[in-house]
Amino acid sequence: MPLKAGGLAALLLCVALGLAALCRDEARAAGVAPAASAAARKLDPVTMWVRYPKARAALDPVASLGRLMFFDASLSASGRQSCASCHDPAHAYGPPNGLAVQPGGPTLERLGTRAVPSLRYLRFTPQFSRHLAQPSSDGVEDEGPAGGFTRDGAAQTLHEQALLPLLNPLEMANPDVAAVAAKLRKASYAAQLRSVFGADVFAHPAVAAAQAAAALQAFQEQDPSFEPYTSKFDAAMSGNADLTAQELRGYTTFNDPKKGNCAKCHLDAPGPGGRPAQFTDFGMVALGVPRNPEIPANRDARHVDLGLCGPVRKDLAGESGFCGMFKTPTLRNSASRQVFFHNGRFHALDEVLHFYAERDTDPAKWYPRVNGQVVVFDDLPARYRANVDRVDVPFTLRAGDKPLLTGADIRDLAAFLKTLDDGYSLEPGGKAAR
Ligand code: HEC
Ligand code: HEC
Repeated sequence: MPLKAGGLAALLLCVALGLAALCRDEARAAGVAPAASAAARKLDPVTMWVRYPKARAALDPVASLGRLMFFDASLSASGRQSCASCHDPAHAYGPPNGLAVQPGGPTLERLGTRAVPSLRYLRFTPQFSRHLAQPSSDGVEDEGPAGGFTRDGAAQTLHEQALLPLLNPLEMANPDVAAVAAKLRKASYAAQLRSVFGADVFAHPAVAAAQAAAALQAFQEQDPSFEPYTSKFDAAMSGNADLTAQELRGYTTFNDPKKGNCAKCHLDAPGPGGRPAQFTDFGMVALGVPRNPEIPANRDARHVDLGLCGPVRKDLAGESGFCGMFKTPTLRNSASRQVFFHNGRFHALDEVLHFYAERDTDPAKWYPRVNGQVVVFDDLPARYRANVDRVDVPFTLRAGDKPLLTGADIRDLAAFLKTLDDGYSLEPGGKAAR
């Protein structure tokens, strides 16, 4: 439905429509009887409101320890790198700079192979599944692989994830859990570790490391800075701000299945139970992002990051249909990032948006020529290029076609995406600060 620039009312209407559909689907998924489902349909969607999480008054002792660890550079082999060095709280827990991949390792001289994701808004990440079943208006739809932590979904929990950077030779580079435990034992908060996890926490290195991982998880789950919901978009959802005409146009394009179609994967409607829009469905998709020469590992032509099917992730190596797929990230705070996509190939939002618009219409703009031929999807071996999405708008066009998104659409989209940056208000969904 076309949406006129009518300020908040128009925005509400659109969101309300999304909600009404969700109500029905929710009822169906839960196996609620038709009568109840009809009742759900009659609910006035506009009176159903987005529920923002209540910030905890204080972190529990485990999470408080997790905070100390998150900022503790002494836990790295170099002694100079903490989680926060790559996941900077001043940058939505994303990379602090425009480097495609961050330095790490024992002397901070090794560069990683993937761009650092933001750690905000991970709460609703589902467990990894090869076939995410999504309730839809005509039953249950197989959305394909989705969920899990890291860009390939390899870690099922934040707990499992937390040990990965501590042990990754390109990151905090501890040789084993014993080295992690030894560092924890010397940490300024070692006494707190003993009092929270038991006097014998250091008796077994594996136990100490596991408790540290649990603490890092608790910090990320409890600290409100991981889900502030202080964007202008949230303020508008709460009736505390109006989007400008340009932002609203961008929002319309974002939702229009024949133009941006962004909301297909970057869901912008509230979820079950009034969950604020997460701007991702956590789905795994191959977008065919061009190879990035800034990644040192890419100097070797044989090195390819195939996402789900390896080589970082090991368990799906045989699933050739999954090669090239990476997790759909939230778009909250993406407008303030300086590196985009799993390989950090792009450094400006505008470039990303042009890539969406012109990947297929003007392939020579994005991919290299070899012997006069443009090699599309050049970051994937030829046999996996068929995995790249060519069915979802805006990826349905061919070379020479007119892009679905004009320059003006792209400027509008960028304006809308900026409304997803946190920091507009002081409280979730609050009025603009000042
Ligand atoms: C050297 C930079 C670096 C350091 C240090 C680092 N990370 Fe990361 N982090 C990354 C990269 C790169 C990824 C993406 C990894 C992938 O997809 O395989 C990531 C992914 C994650 C994810 C998954 C996010 C998602 O979208 O699923 C979490 C959670 C995380 N890191 C937490 C931590 C914690 C906790 C620490 C400290 C113990 C830490 N990181 C230290 C670079 C870093
Ligand atoms: C078919 C699903 C799909 C559609 C449609 C889609 N995206 Fe994405 N988006 C993804 C996936 C998957 C990634 C991550 C790809 C990667 O890392 O290789 C991504 C990444 C991004 C990023 C980079 C974010 C970051 O943190 O690096 C931006 C920005 C973005 N999308 C914006 C958009 C916009 C704007 C639209 C509409 C024009 C759109 N997307 C449509 C799936 C989709």
